[in-house]
Formats: sequence, structure tokens, C-alpha cells
Amino acid sequence: MDMESFFVLHRDLPREGPGEPQDVAWATEVAGTRGNCRVCDAGCGPGADTETLAALLPEARIDAFDLYPQFVAAAAARCARFGARVSARVGSMADLSGPYDLIWSAGAVYFLGVTEALARWRPALAEGGRVAFSEPVLLDAAENNRAVRDFWADYPAITDRAGIEARIRAAGYRVLGGRLIVGAAWEAYYLPQEARIAGLRASAVPEALEPVLREAEAEIANWRAAPDRIAYLLSVVAPA
Ligand SMILES: C[S@@+](CC[C@H](N)C(=O)[O-])C[C@H]1O[C@@H](n2cnc3c(N)ncnc32)[C@H](O)[C@@H]1O
Repeated sequence: MDMESFFVLHRDLPREGPGEPQDVAWATEVAGTRGNCRVCDAGCGPGADTETLAALLPEARIDAFDLYPQFVAAAAARCARFGARVSARVGSMADLSGPYDLIWSAGAVYFLGVTEALARWRPALAEGGRVAFSEPVLLDAAENNRAVRDFWADYPAITDRAGIEARIRAAGYRVLGGRLIVGAAWEAYYLPQEARIAGLRASAVPEALEPVLREAEAEIANWRAAPDRIAYLLSVVAPA
């Protein structure tokens, strides 16, 4: 991917995947994360959930990591008001050191694979630590909706809820709770992106930008064709 063009489209967008503050609040409640704790936002993007975690957990120390300096800078700016207890750094979520009471990861685990990510994070969890992560999910194992299949075409490993839970168990974890992310949480992701595309299309679009814009437009069109079937599963898990 042409990352320069990618960031023309994505610069300063509020988030890089579906999600809402209510999802973070639900997960911290299920995980029992509170008080003077250590939290990691793995694959933080521009830091929407880092900010929510910092606001929800006023005594927590939070480390946010992403591979891209542009996202890390956005997350750091967004969380500056929380002071030194929140840090955003360039780094790989494959190499967390911890110890963390909660590893939060929205829409990023699929870069490593569910079983692989959870197994790698096990040594970075404090005693009693939890992981909360969202992951693409098929609402029906035999999904035959064309828009849904096209939407997930680049993620052939996608599975249904039972499949995700099997991957969680294979990593030596148990499920504490699960919550589907559909509808409004996806609007929070795509509506600002649509507005950015409209702004860019309002004037002559440089040739180099066209592939990125077309890809985003096709993705959003598929989502609009099946907004109640394109989903993430947010799972809160603990070592078994
Ligand atoms: C779909 S975005 C979600 C971002 C953010 N969690 C959100 O919901 O807005 C996935 C993020 O994972 C990051 N990422 C992918 N592989 C990573 C890795 N190995 N270490 C850290 N971040 C990674 C990407 O740069 C991207 O920002």
C-alpha cells in the first residue's frame, strides 16, 4: 500500500476501526479492571480507545503502541491532558513486556492471529490480568451474503463466534464475556472517512491517490450493503 496516500485519506480521522466508548466501558467492567492498574492499548491507531481508557480509569498507567509514527503522534496529542500516566510509542504489539492488568486491542489482533497474539501476550499479563480484543466475525458460519463475503475477502481466516472461541481456547485462555460490535460503532469509523473522501473528491484528485480512494469507497459500499451483518466480536478473556 502507498502509505503516503493512505495518510492523506486517514490523517486526523478519529479512529481506524469500528468501536465506541461504551465498548471499552463494557470490557473494563467484565475484566474487573479498576484502580491503580497498568493497561496496554495494542495497535492503538490514533488513540480513540486510549483516550477512553484514560478517562474511565483515572488511576491507571497506560501504554499505547502502534507501528506508525503518524498514529502514535495523534494518540499522544489526544492524550496529552492525562500527563505522564499515558504514553504513546512506536512499537510492535508482538513484543509487549508488561506486566499489564489489561491488554486492550481493538481491530488489530488479526495482524498476528488470535491464538498467536494471545499466546505472545501471556507473559506480559500481571497476575489476574485480562485481554480484551475485537476481531472480525461472521454472524453465520455459512454466510452467503455477497457484500459480507466481498467485505472480508482480504481476511480468509475470518470465522464465526465459535471459531474465535476455539482460537482463544487454543491459546490457553477462557472467555469471560463477548459483545457484538455492529451498527453505530461502524458509523463512528466510516462516516468521518466518507466526509474526508467527499472533501478530497471536491477538487482534482492526484492520480496517486485514486487507488486508495477507490479501495475505501468499495469497502464502505460493501459495509452499507450489509451494515447489520458486518461485525466484530469483542471478547474479554483470561488465562485458563
Ligand atoms: C484497524 S486499526 C485499529 C486502530 C485502533 N485500535 C482503533 O480502533 O482506532 C489496526 C491498527 O493496528 C496497527 N498495527 C498493525 N500491526 C501492528 C503491530 N505489529 N504492532 C503495533 N500496531 C500494529 C496498525 O498500524 C493500525 O493502527
